[in-house]
Amino acid sequence: MFFSFGGCKTEVFIEREIPRLAQICEDFFKVLLVCDENTSSIADKIAGYDIPRCVLKSGEENKTWNAVETILNAAKSAALGRDGIFIGVGGGVIGDLTGFAASIYMRGCRLVLAATTLLAMVDASVGGKTGFDLSGIKNLVGSFYPAETVYMPLDVLSTLPAREKKSGMGELIKTAILDGDDFLDKLPVIADCGFPEKLPNDELLRYCIKRAVLYKGGIVSEDFKESGKRKLLNLGHTFAHALESAAGLGSISHGEAVAWGIIRSCELGYALGITPRARAKKIRSVISSFGYQCSAPFPHTDINMFLEAMKSDKKKKHGKLSFIVPDENSACLVELASESEVNVLTKIIKGEFPL
Ligand SMILES: NC(=O)c1ccc[n+]([C@@H]2O[C@H](COP(=O)([O-])OP(=O)(O)OC[C@H]3O[C@@H](n4cnc5c(N)ncnc54)[C@H](O)[C@@H]3O)[C@@H](O)[C@H]2O)c1
Repeated sequence: MFFSFGGCKTEVFIEREIPRLAQICEDFFKVLLVCDENTSSIADKIAGYDIPRCVLKSGEENKTWNAVETILNAAKSAALGRDGIFIGVGGGVIGDLTGFAASIYMRGCRLVLAATTLLAMVDASVGGKTGFDLSGIKNLVGSFYPAETVYMPLDVLSTLPAREKKSGMGELIKTAILDGDDFLDKLPVIADCGFPEKLPNDELLRYCIKRAVLYKGGIVSEDFKESGKRKLLNLGHTFAHALESAAGLGSISHGEAVAWGIIRSCELGYALGITPRARAKKIRSVISSFGYQCSAPFPHTDINMFLEAMKSDKKKKHGKLSFIVPDENSACLVELASESEVNVLTKIIKGEFPL
């Protein structure tokens, strides 16, 4: 699959096996492999130990400036020049950190990603958003910097813990809601087949990843810098980011927070007369079939901290909070400004506005 994001080309390969370094590039002396402690063995399969490598601590709590600095120092030690290639091998955290480091090292180097989580395959590795968390706020600092090539080697998913597969499913459900009910209707089959312990069969897995990538790639091609249509991809995310911040970054997986946030978006959309009740209930039922926390408030989270985190969300502009809410067959943007609208929001977060 080929895309053009802001004039930069991205090629995406969904394959079974991890690519070898010779398939990725010709000049091995220009490469820095970036991985975390859990994806280092996958990086080994790309290239042996003689290739410069930066191994980071895993997890959202390590998606920090410190990690970016570690990558930049590793690039300097490896004597990478402007024609150097950063190869990020990992999930969304490694992809976002490596992408950001590549975007600023010598004002921009080549970037290749090998996505090793379901979440990175269906979402994070495509579209060029990079960055890190600052002062407990998700993705507060970042850049738009698409990878020139993204590999999605399905075999590596065999070692992915069930919790992480479930996290990826949260983003896949989000895309299916946006792309229309014929995609959404395919997902309960996956839940019935023993997910997250078992992955769907090869054909269905490829279908879901390809469809998610095509949908996101299409949107991002049209609106790279998120001035319009790309905002749809934030469905569930205003709630999700606030939840992740209030709960402490890393304690709830991103996809789990997104799944919970999508249900809150349905409640908000229903309260505003945008989301038809039947569609909201259908979405909730799909999310529930995967065993996500569906009701509010989210256990063990402080509602006041949650509201504070929501207010500081970077999507809040001109005193308004913006949300994406499902509509008849996709989703749309709403902005809340009036006191009564914000009161509805508080009720939703407290669980006082069930569908
Ligand atoms: N840039 C974007 O457009 C975008 C979109 C969505 C999400 N994100 C970001 O992605 C991040 C979440 O990504 P994630 O869910 O992939 O998390 P992650 O990168 O933290 O990976 C989850 C865990 O799985 C481990 N892991 C990765 N691959 C593995 C494998 N094959 N086998 C065993 N363990 C493996 C990792 O070490 C980590 O412990 C968040 O920071 C989120 O903000 C970015």
